[in-house]
Amino acid sequence: MPDAGAGGAGAAGPDAAAPSAPAPDSRPVAVVTGARKGIGRHLAESLLGAGYRVLGCGRGAEGWEADGFAYHVVDVADEAQVLPFMRHVTQAYGRLDALINCAALASMNHTILTPVSSVEKMLRVNVTGTFLMSRESAKLMRKRRFGRIVNVSSAVVPLRLSGEAAYLASKSAVQTLSQVMARELSEFGITVNVVAPGPTDTDMIRGVPKAKIDELTQQFFNKRLTTLDDIANVVHFFLRPGSGGVTGQVIYLNGVPNG
Ligand SMILES: NC(=O)c1ccc[n+]([C@@H]2O[C@H](COP(=O)([O-])OP(=O)(O)OC[C@H]3O[C@@H](n4cnc5c(N)ncnc54)[C@H](OP(=O)(O)O)[C@@H]3O)[C@@H](O)[C@H]2O)c1
Repeated sequence: MPDAGAGGAGAAGPDAAAPSAPAPDSRPVAVVTGARKGIGRHLAESLLGAGYRVLGCGRGAEGWEADGFAYHVVDVADEAQVLPFMRHVTQAYGRLDALINCAALASMNHTILTPVSSVEKMLRVNVTGTFLMSRESAKLMRKRRFGRIVNVSSAVVPLRLSGEAAYLASKSAVQTLSQVMARELSEFGITVNVVAPGPTDTDMIRGVPKAKIDELTQQFFNKRLTTLDDIANVVHFFLRPGSGGVTGQVIYLNGVPNG
Protein backbone atom coordinates (compact mmCIF):
# COMPACT_ATOMS: atom_id res chain seq x y z
CA MET A 1 0.00 0.00 0.00
CA PRO A 2 1.53 3.33 -0.94
CA ASP A 3 2.48 5.76 1.81
CA ALA A 4 1.48 3.36 4.58
CA GLY A 5 2.46 4.91 7.87
CA ALA A 6 3.48 8.21 6.31
CA GLY A 7 2.37 11.64 7.44
CA GLY A 8 1.96 11.38 11.22
CA ALA A 9 -0.91 13.34 12.70
CA GLY A 10 0.12 16.67 14.23
CA ALA A 11 1.53 15.87 17.68
CA ALA A 12 0.79 18.45 20.37
CA GLY A 13 4.00 20.43 20.98
CA PRO A 14 4.74 23.36 23.30
CA ASP A 15 2.32 25.55 21.28
CA ALA A 16 -0.53 23.10 21.74
CA ALA A 17 -2.88 25.97 22.52
CA ALA A 18 -2.35 27.49 19.04
CA PRO A 19 -5.00 26.43 16.52
CA SER A 20 -3.54 23.98 14.05
CA ALA A 21 -4.87 22.78 10.71
CA PRO A 22 -5.90 19.11 10.71
CA ALA A 23 -3.21 16.86 9.27
CA PRO A 24 -3.92 16.00 5.63
CA ASP A 25 -5.31 12.52 5.13
CA SER A 26 -2.42 10.50 3.74
CA ARG A 27 -4.36 7.27 3.20
CA PRO A 28 -4.21 6.06 -0.41
CA VAL A 29 -7.27 6.42 -2.61
CA ALA A 30 -8.81 3.79 -4.89
CA VAL A 31 -11.67 3.90 -7.37
CA VAL A 32 -13.54 0.64 -8.00
CA THR A 33 -16.06 0.54 -10.84
CA GLY A 34 -18.93 -1.93 -10.61
CA ALA A 35 -18.62 -1.75 -6.82
CA ARG A 36 -22.33 -1.98 -6.06
CA LYS A 37 -22.22 -5.80 -5.92
CA GLY A 38 -20.35 -8.93 -6.89
CA ILE A 39 -16.59 -8.94 -7.44
CA GLY A 40 -16.34 -5.14 -7.42
CA ARG A 41 -17.97 -4.89 -4.00
CA HIS A 42 -15.69 -7.57 -2.57
CA LEU A 43 -12.62 -5.77 -3.95
CA ALA A 44 -13.82 -2.43 -2.56
CA GLU A 45 -14.28 -4.02 0.88
CA SER A 46 -10.88 -5.66 0.79
CA LEU A 47 -9.23 -2.35 -0.17
CA LEU A 48 -10.99 -0.64 2.75
CA GLY A 49 -9.56 -3.38 4.95
CA ALA A 50 -6.09 -2.59 3.59
CA GLY A 51 -6.40 1.08 4.56
CA TYR A 52 -7.54 2.67 1.31
CA ARG A 53 -10.20 5.34 0.99
CA VAL A 54 -12.46 3.89 -1.69
CA LEU A 55 -14.84 5.47 -4.18
CA GLY A 56 -17.11 2.93 -5.79
CA CYS A 57 -19.50 3.37 -8.67
CA GLY A 58 -22.34 1.62 -10.44
CA ARG A 59 -25.48 2.56 -12.33
CA GLY A 60 -27.88 1.47 -9.61
CA ALA A 61 -28.97 4.08 -7.07
CA GLU A 62 -28.74 1.73 -4.08
CA GLY A 63 -25.11 1.60 -3.05
CA TRP A 64 -23.85 0.49 0.36
CA GLU A 65 -22.14 2.25 3.22
CA ALA A 66 -18.92 1.72 5.10
CA ASP A 67 -16.39 3.89 6.86
CA GLY A 68 -14.01 5.29 4.22
CA PHE A 69 -16.30 4.28 1.32
CA ALA A 70 -18.27 6.63 -0.94
CA TYR A 71 -20.70 5.29 -3.52
CA HIS A 72 -21.43 7.27 -6.71
CA VAL A 73 -23.94 6.63 -9.47
CA VAL A 74 -21.81 6.67 -12.62
CA ASP A 75 -22.30 4.88 -15.92
CA VAL A 76 -18.71 4.21 -16.96
CA ALA A 77 -19.73 4.05 -20.63
CA ASP A 78 -20.97 7.65 -20.56
CA GLU A 79 -18.24 10.26 -20.84
CA ALA A 80 -20.64 12.94 -19.62
CA GLN A 81 -20.87 11.05 -16.28
CA VAL A 82 -17.25 9.92 -16.05
CA LEU A 83 -15.74 13.40 -16.42
CA PRO A 84 -17.58 15.05 -13.50
CA PHE A 85 -16.98 11.98 -11.33
CA MET A 86 -13.23 12.13 -11.97
CA ARG A 87 -13.27 15.91 -11.39
CA HIS A 88 -14.79 15.15 -7.99
CA VAL A 89 -12.01 12.64 -7.23
CA THR A 90 -9.42 15.25 -8.17
CA GLN A 91 -11.00 18.08 -6.17
CA ALA A 92 -12.03 16.12 -3.07
CA TYR A 93 -9.04 13.77 -2.77
CA GLY A 94 -6.28 15.29 -4.93
CA ARG A 95 -4.77 11.89 -5.61
CA LEU A 96 -5.57 8.48 -7.03
CA ASP A 97 -3.43 5.47 -6.21
CA ALA A 98 -5.47 2.67 -7.75
CA LEU A 99 -8.23 2.13 -10.28
CA ILE A 100 -9.97 -1.23 -10.50
CA ASN A 101 -12.15 -1.49 -13.61
CA CYS A 102 -14.66 -4.16 -12.65
CA ALA A 103 -17.87 -2.85 -14.24
CA ALA A 104 -19.03 -5.02 -17.12
CA LEU A 105 -22.01 -6.59 -18.81
CA ALA A 106 -22.19 -10.18 -20.04
CA SER A 107 -24.68 -11.86 -22.27
CA MET A 108 -24.30 -15.40 -23.59
CA ASN A 109 -25.85 -16.37 -26.88
CA HIS A 110 -25.03 -18.15 -30.10
CA THR A 111 -23.75 -15.68 -32.72
CA ILE A 112 -26.72 -16.38 -34.99
CA LEU A 113 -29.12 -15.43 -32.20
CA THR A 114 -27.28 -12.36 -30.87
CA PRO A 115 -28.88 -8.98 -31.55
CA VAL A 116 -26.47 -6.22 -32.50
CA SER A 117 -27.80 -4.07 -29.63
CA SER A 118 -26.43 -6.65 -27.18
CA VAL A 119 -22.98 -6.57 -28.84
CA GLU A 120 -22.93 -2.78 -28.82
CA LYS A 121 -23.94 -2.56 -25.15
CA MET A 122 -21.20 -4.97 -24.08
CA LEU A 123 -18.54 -3.18 -26.10
CA ARG A 124 -19.60 0.20 -24.72
CA VAL A 125 -19.48 -0.80 -21.06
CA ASN A 126 -16.66 -3.33 -21.11
CA VAL A 127 -14.29 -1.63 -23.55
CA THR A 128 -15.25 2.05 -23.81
CA GLY A 129 -15.99 2.21 -20.05
CA THR A 130 -12.62 0.69 -19.15
CA PHE A 131 -10.89 2.99 -21.61
CA LEU A 132 -12.59 6.17 -20.33
CA MET A 133 -12.02 5.43 -16.64
CA SER A 134 -8.38 4.53 -17.30
CA ARG A 135 -7.72 7.63 -19.40
CA GLU A 136 -9.16 10.01 -16.82
CA SER A 137 -7.53 8.22 -13.88
CA ALA A 138 -4.12 8.29 -15.55
CA LYS A 139 -4.32 12.09 -15.82
CA LEU A 140 -4.63 12.31 -12.02
CA MET A 141 -2.19 9.51 -11.22
CA ARG A 142 0.60 10.98 -13.31
CA LYS A 143 0.67 14.12 -11.11
CA ARG A 144 2.19 12.02 -8.31
CA ARG A 145 4.05 9.75 -10.73
CA PHE A 146 2.38 6.73 -9.17
CA GLY A 147 -0.62 4.67 -10.10
CA ARG A 148 -1.95 1.16 -10.38
CA ILE A 149 -4.67 0.27 -12.88
CA VAL A 150 -6.18 -3.21 -12.73
CA ASN A 151 -8.65 -4.29 -15.38
CA VAL A 152 -10.86 -7.36 -15.14
CA SER A 153 -11.01 -9.80 -18.04
CA SER A 154 -12.08 -13.46 -18.03
CA ALA A 155 -10.15 -16.73 -17.89
CA VAL A 156 -12.56 -17.99 -20.52
CA VAL A 157 -10.88 -15.82 -23.21
CA PRO A 158 -8.30 -18.50 -24.16
CA LEU A 159 -11.03 -21.20 -24.23
CA ARG A 160 -12.88 -19.49 -27.11
CA LEU A 161 -16.15 -20.72 -25.62
CA SER A 162 -19.28 -21.10 -27.76
CA GLY A 163 -21.97 -18.57 -26.93
CA GLU A 164 -19.52 -15.92 -25.77
CA ALA A 165 -18.28 -14.35 -29.03
CA ALA A 166 -19.18 -10.75 -28.19
CA TYR A 167 -18.38 -10.93 -24.45
CA LEU A 168 -15.00 -12.56 -25.03
CA ALA A 169 -14.21 -10.16 -27.87
CA SER A 170 -14.83 -7.32 -25.41
CA LYS A 171 -12.54 -8.94 -22.83
CA SER A 172 -9.82 -9.59 -25.44
CA ALA A 173 -10.04 -5.89 -26.26
CA VAL A 174 -9.66 -5.05 -22.55
CA GLN A 175 -6.48 -7.15 -22.43
CA THR A 176 -4.99 -5.48 -25.50
CA LEU A 177 -5.87 -1.95 -24.44
CA SER A 178 -4.36 -2.71 -21.01
CA GLN A 179 -1.09 -3.77 -22.60
CA VAL A 180 -0.87 -0.71 -24.84
CA MET A 181 -1.70 1.54 -21.87
CA ALA A 182 0.94 -0.25 -19.81
CA ARG A 183 3.52 0.76 -22.41
CA GLU A 184 2.26 4.35 -22.71
CA LEU A 185 1.82 5.03 -18.98
CA SER A 186 5.05 3.45 -17.76
CA GLU A 187 6.90 6.79 -17.96
CA PHE A 188 4.43 8.21 -15.41
CA GLY A 189 5.02 5.45 -12.86
CA ILE A 190 1.65 3.86 -13.66
CA THR A 191 1.26 0.11 -14.09
CA VAL A 192 -1.64 -1.51 -15.94
CA ASN A 193 -2.43 -5.18 -15.39
CA VAL A 194 -5.29 -7.59 -15.85
CA VAL A 195 -6.86 -10.20 -13.60
CA ALA A 196 -8.87 -12.81 -15.47
CA PRO A 197 -11.12 -14.85 -13.15
CA GLY A 198 -12.73 -18.17 -13.99
CA PRO A 199 -16.45 -18.62 -13.25
CA THR A 200 -17.22 -16.84 -9.97
CA ASP A 201 -20.43 -17.06 -7.97
CA THR A 202 -22.05 -13.66 -8.60
CA ASP A 203 -25.24 -12.42 -10.26
CA MET A 204 -23.40 -12.50 -13.59
CA ILE A 205 -23.52 -16.30 -13.79
CA ARG A 206 -26.51 -17.07 -11.53
CA GLY A 207 -28.78 -17.48 -14.54
CA VAL A 208 -26.48 -20.09 -16.12
CA PRO A 209 -27.62 -23.70 -15.47
CA LYS A 210 -25.44 -25.51 -12.92
CA ALA A 211 -24.65 -28.30 -15.40
CA LYS A 212 -23.16 -25.74 -17.78
CA ILE A 213 -21.02 -24.20 -15.03
CA ASP A 214 -19.83 -27.67 -13.95
CA GLU A 215 -18.90 -28.49 -17.54
CA LEU A 216 -17.00 -25.20 -17.78
CA THR A 217 -15.04 -25.62 -14.54
CA GLN A 218 -13.85 -29.03 -15.83
CA GLN A 219 -11.90 -27.21 -18.56
CA PHE A 220 -9.60 -25.48 -16.04
CA PHE A 221 -6.63 -26.98 -14.19
CA ASN A 222 -8.41 -26.14 -10.89
CA LYS A 223 -11.76 -27.77 -11.36
CA ARG A 224 -13.67 -25.38 -9.13
CA LEU A 225 -15.16 -21.90 -9.13
CA THR A 226 -12.86 -18.92 -8.70
CA THR A 227 -13.40 -17.38 -5.25
CA LEU A 228 -13.68 -13.68 -4.51
CA ASP A 229 -10.53 -13.98 -2.41
CA ASP A 230 -8.63 -15.56 -5.35
CA ILE A 231 -9.34 -12.36 -7.27
CA ALA A 232 -8.56 -9.99 -4.39
CA ASN A 233 -5.23 -11.76 -3.85
CA VAL A 234 -4.10 -10.96 -7.41
CA VAL A 235 -5.40 -7.39 -7.24
CA HIS A 236 -3.50 -6.73 -4.00
CA PHE A 237 -0.36 -8.18 -5.58
CA PHE A 238 -0.64 -5.75 -8.51
CA LEU A 239 -1.22 -2.84 -6.08
CA ARG A 240 1.81 -3.46 -3.87
CA PRO A 241 4.48 -0.71 -3.99
CA GLY A 242 6.98 -3.48 -4.81
CA SER A 243 5.00 -4.47 -7.92
CA GLY A 244 6.19 -1.48 -9.96
CA GLY A 245 8.04 -3.88 -12.26
CA VAL A 246 4.88 -5.83 -13.03
CA THR A 247 2.97 -4.24 -15.88
CA GLY A 248 1.11 -5.32 -19.01
CA GLN A 249 0.46 -8.74 -17.46
CA VAL A 250 -2.64 -10.90 -17.55
CA ILE A 251 -3.11 -13.36 -14.70
CA TYR A 252 -5.58 -16.11 -15.55
CA LEU A 253 -7.10 -17.69 -12.47
CA ASN A 254 -7.90 -21.40 -12.11
CA GLY A 255 -5.27 -22.38 -14.70
CA VAL A 256 -6.22 -22.43 -18.32
CA PRO A 257 -4.59 -24.06 -21.35
CA ASN A 258 -2.81 -21.50 -23.61
CA GLY A 259 -3.52 -18.69 -21.12
N1 LIG B 1 -18.78 -13.73 -12.32
C1 LIG B 1 -17.99 -14.35 -13.17
O1 LIG B 1 -18.10 -15.57 -13.38
C2 LIG B 1 -16.90 -13.60 -13.89
C3 LIG B 1 -15.87 -14.35 -14.49
C4 LIG B 1 -14.85 -13.69 -15.16
C5 LIG B 1 -14.84 -12.31 -15.18
N2 LIG B 1 -15.85 -11.60 -14.59
C6 LIG B 1 -15.77 -10.14 -14.64
O2 LIG B 1 -15.73 -9.64 -13.33
C7 LIG B 1 -16.27 -8.32 -13.30
C8 LIG B 1 -17.32 -8.21 -12.22
O3 LIG B 1 -18.39 -9.09 -12.55
P1 LIG B 1 -19.40 -9.67 -11.46
O4 LIG B 1 -19.37 -11.13 -11.60
O5 LIG B 1 -19.14 -9.06 -10.14
O6 LIG B 1 -20.77 -9.15 -12.09
P2 LIG B 1 -22.06 -8.51 -11.45
O7 LIG B 1 -22.36 -9.13 -10.13
O8 LIG B 1 -23.08 -8.52 -12.52
O9 LIG B 1 -21.60 -7.00 -11.17
C9 LIG B 1 -21.33 -6.13 -12.22
C10 LIG B 1 -21.15 -4.75 -11.65
O10 LIG B 1 -20.89 -3.84 -12.73
C11 LIG B 1 -21.75 -2.71 -12.59
N3 LIG B 1 -21.99 -2.13 -13.90
C12 LIG B 1 -22.50 -2.71 -15.01
N4 LIG B 1 -22.57 -1.84 -16.02
C13 LIG B 1 -22.09 -0.66 -15.54
C14 LIG B 1 -21.89 0.62 -16.10
N5 LIG B 1 -22.23 0.90 -17.37
N6 LIG B 1 -21.36 1.60 -15.31
C15 LIG B 1 -21.04 1.35 -14.02
N7 LIG B 1 -21.18 0.15 -13.44
C16 LIG B 1 -21.72 -0.84 -14.19
C17 LIG B 1 -22.99 -3.26 -11.91
O11 LIG B 1 -23.69 -2.29 -11.17
P3 LIG B 1 -25.03 -1.63 -11.71
O12 LIG B 1 -25.94 -2.75 -12.03
O13 LIG B 1 -25.46 -0.76 -10.61
O14 LIG B 1 -24.61 -0.85 -12.91
C18 LIG B 1 -22.37 -4.24 -10.93
O15 LIG B 1 -21.97 -3.59 -9.75
C19 LIG B 1 -16.77 -8.06 -14.72
O16 LIG B 1 -15.78 -7.36 -15.42
C20 LIG B 1 -16.93 -9.45 -15.29
O17 LIG B 1 -16.86 -9.45 -16.70
C21 LIG B 1 -16.87 -12.21 -13.92
